[in-house]
Amino acid sequence: MKNREHWGSKLGFILAASGSAVGIGNIWKYPHMAGQNGGAAFTLIYLLCILVVGLSIVITEFVIGRKTQLSPVGAFETLAPNTAWKWVGFLGVASAFVILSFYGVVGGWILKYIIVSLTGGFNVLKGDPEAAGSLFNNFITGTWSPVLYQIIFMAVCIWVIVHGVKGGIEKWAKVMMPLIIILLAVLAVRGITLKGGLEGISFLFNPRFEDLTASAIVLALGHAFFTLSLGMGTMVTYGSYLDREQNLLNSALWVIALDTAIAMLAGVAIFTTVFALGANPAEGPGLIFVVLPSVFPQLAAGTLWGSLFFILLFMAALTSAISILEVVTAYFIDQKGWSRTKATIQFGVVITVVGVFCSLSLGGSINLTAFMDITFFDFMDYLSSKYMLPIGGMLTALFVLFHWGVPNFIDELYMGISSKKIDSRIAVILLLVSAMVVGFIILNEIIAKITGTAVIG
Ligand code: TRP
Repeated sequence: MKNREHWGSKLGFILAASGSAVGIGNIWKYPHMAGQNGGAAFTLIYLLCILVVGLSIVITEFVIGRKTQLSPVGAFETLAPNTAWKWVGFLGVASAFVILSFYGVVGGWILKYIIVSLTGGFNVLKGDPEAAGSLFNNFITGTWSPVLYQIIFMAVCIWVIVHGVKGGIEKWAKVMMPLIIILLAVLAVRGITLKGGLEGISFLFNPRFEDLTASAIVLALGHAFFTLSLGMGTMVTYGSYLDREQNLLNSALWVIALDTAIAMLAGVAIFTTVFALGANPAEGPGLIFVVLPSVFPQLAAGTLWGSLFFILLFMAALTSAISILEVVTAYFIDQKGWSRTKATIQFGVVITVVGVFCSLSLGGSINLTAFMDITFFDFMDYLSSKYMLPIGGMLTALFVLFHWGVPNFIDELYMGISSKKIDSRIAVILLLVSAMVVGFIILNEIIAKITGTAVIG
């Protein structure tokens, strides 16, 4: 396609793709999951999942995107005309709707917490996680305030995408990714140099194999998918803005390395601070919005540290949310011939409206939980991370193995690579292992839903 937008540089592409990968998943989910599930024991399993399954699928998505120069629906249609494979692309677009609707709500919470911190609002929570807990609960179960912040977050996201691949996504990734790394490094050094901070490191990195349960292994795999933005064509879309000269293996390794390094750095920054001040490290999901706001005011210049933390979390969430919305925008540009502005605004607004229902389902004036035993917010989260993303990832691997063919895949992969490190046999094994492992996880989940007991976990 002649007029397709392209990335301005290799670095720009790597930063944009790692911007997608580095998100709330790295800074919020990984630290509390590792903390609760055996520290380094969990991290080892997670790294294994990233290196085997994650790397294979990141490369596969990049290859499919660059080969076709199209976003997922068009990409599958081009490589497999008149077959049902294009539904893998549609599944990706649908997943983007589902994920971004609740991701945008969390983005709004982060914005709110920047404001609370900057205005000194954490001071009254000093050393009092209960007060922090009720502040958080009152806020997210409210009607207007969380919705307002969610709308602002989504508006920023729409604004960046309207400016295009190079002038919007790449430009802002180049600004925000270095800032995220610098701010996290500063917070990590602050944490390590606190008295007792090193205990946090041993909590995070000492392997405690007795805490590593079977369900933690399932968790590690699911998270490997989520954290690398896999299974819904994000990386296909970003790969479609590449030209032929890039070394895809090398780029994929960079994205994975940055994603993993930032998750670890976040873990260090958070747990050193939590341990130094004697807060509860096993708080789980409440770690970020409940424990940290009560801990920051105990530090000298606490307002500064708290604000920096939530600002960096905001940037991480934004670069990820952008990549999710871009999947939808690219579909309407590539397949329907819409303009970027029209596609982004129209569907950005639709997703925001769905997100409003996610937010209201947490306790606002509208009760959406009458028909389900979980809130609409949790439903969208489970639906995407437990089913849609793994199914999308598995089908992508199966597509290469059984329809497009590994030799075609290898040919495209090798454009721009001089030394050929992966031969067909290794590619077949990696893709097969990935598809099987992911297939097993999905099956395990379905069996657990139907019978009430999982095969593992
Ligand atoms: N990877 C991001 C995170 O860790 C979230 C994300 C962005 C995502 N794009 C995605 C997850 C696509 C799944 C699919 O927070």
